[in-house]
Amino acid sequence: MNKNQIIKGFSKLSPEEKRTLVSGFAKEPRAALKTLSSFFHPDDAIQKILSEFSENTLTNFPLPFSVAPNFLINGNIYMVPMVIEESSVVAAASSAARFWAVRGGFTARVRGTEKNGQLHFKYSGNPARLIAAMPEIEAWLRTRTDSLAENMTRRGGGITSLTLREFPEIEAGYFQLIAGFETADAMGANFINSVLEEFGVGLQEFLASHSGFREEDYEPLMAILSNYCPGCTVEVVAECPVEALGMVGGIHPEDFTERFLMAVKIAEMDVFRATTHNKGIMNGVDAVVLATGNDFRAIEAGAHAWASRSGQYRSLSQASMEGGVFRFSLELPMAVGTVGGLTRLHPLADFSLQLMGNPNAQDLMMIAAAAGLANNFAALRSLVTTGIQAGHMRMHLPNILLQLGATPEERAIAENYFSDKKPSHQAVAGFIKRIREGGGP
Ligand code: MEV
Repeated sequence: MNKNQIIKGFSKLSPEEKRTLVSGFAKEPRAALKTLSSFFHPDDAIQKILSEFSENTLTNFPLPFSVAPNFLINGNIYMVPMVIEESSVVAAASSAARFWAVRGGFTARVRGTEKNGQLHFKYSGNPARLIAAMPEIEAWLRTRTDSLAENMTRRGGGITSLTLREFPEIEAGYFQLIAGFETADAMGANFINSVLEEFGVGLQEFLASHSGFREEDYEPLMAILSNYCPGCTVEVVAECPVEALGMVGGIHPEDFTERFLMAVKIAEMDVFRATTHNKGIMNGVDAVVLATGNDFRAIEAGAHAWASRSGQYRSLSQASMEGGVFRFSLELPMAVGTVGGLTRLHPLADFSLQLMGNPNAQDLMMIAAAAGLANNFAALRSLVTTGIQAGHMRMHLPNILLQLGATPEERAIAENYFSDKKPSHQAVAGFIKRIREGGGP
């Protein structure tokens, strides 16, 4: 097939036809078709669920589903599900969870659960008059969205606030109707967006039916939730007396604390380090968010906006040492749900929630944040002691051996040999070559 031609009606093809067509783009179409087909789920019911999460589904792209046990959070032990492709993340989370489990665990609290969204519009009438009519507009819009919000109100959520703001710095006559929402145990995106769109229509009707206003002065632009939700944050803390840290990576607790604090201070001040530091936090957060069928892009976007709230992108976590106590904490926005979306539709997301005792949204916020802090702790602990590569590369060894097509015997010999050495790709390839040539390691 001509790769430059426009494809018509692709979405109408069956998954098998789609796979056949798309395989034609690969260097070896038959092998590609075999690979694509091998990941298509043999159970029709499961595949139907997965296919319907997206469009133009050819097959599935599996990622490892793992658990990090021993997360002690607010006195409860959790086995935390993590979906991630980076080999060292689950090991790091598990190791940090165990480290803190015997030092008091993680203490977490939700600081707020309010989400927000905006109706963006232009208004060419008298702005002062529009602003003055806001109480009336609010009552009108609330009545109009009563039926939409009814279900959410019954679950303890709803519309919490409505504010009108003019943004002349963006453009004269440009306004936002900013709405606050509580969404109970749902992430709430559909609810928020439906209400905001209804506000758009409702505001038009208000202007058309009230004297002193003209419908033609109103031009709705867009209605959408914001993934920046500073009113929906969670804080998690790990702390213990410095001496209770014990020897860390061969370093005395006082020296370790000093080095650790310095690493966090650098991430506070330097954007290059802050980005990597926060990536380490998101390793843990995203893995839990993904495992529970939540929207990790929303969490990522919100977290990085939060990290920039002072005007400079900074570390999401903080560390201190006061009165002989080492304290490590993290606060970040976390709009997650335990009902709605994929959370119960994806059989593995549903299982993840069961595994954690069916947490509510606030519990999940705390668990995901604890995973973030645990991964951050493990990364900094390695960085300021042994260095990251020793552990990372050891975890990466199986991937390298897989790439080299190592047999089970070769694997066993290599794992033993590299148990105390850095297994770079070159070193492992050389090692395997030597044992294959019969020259021994
Ligand atoms: C790797 O996925 C994450 C780290 O780079 C985080 C960090 O540097 O703090 C190890």
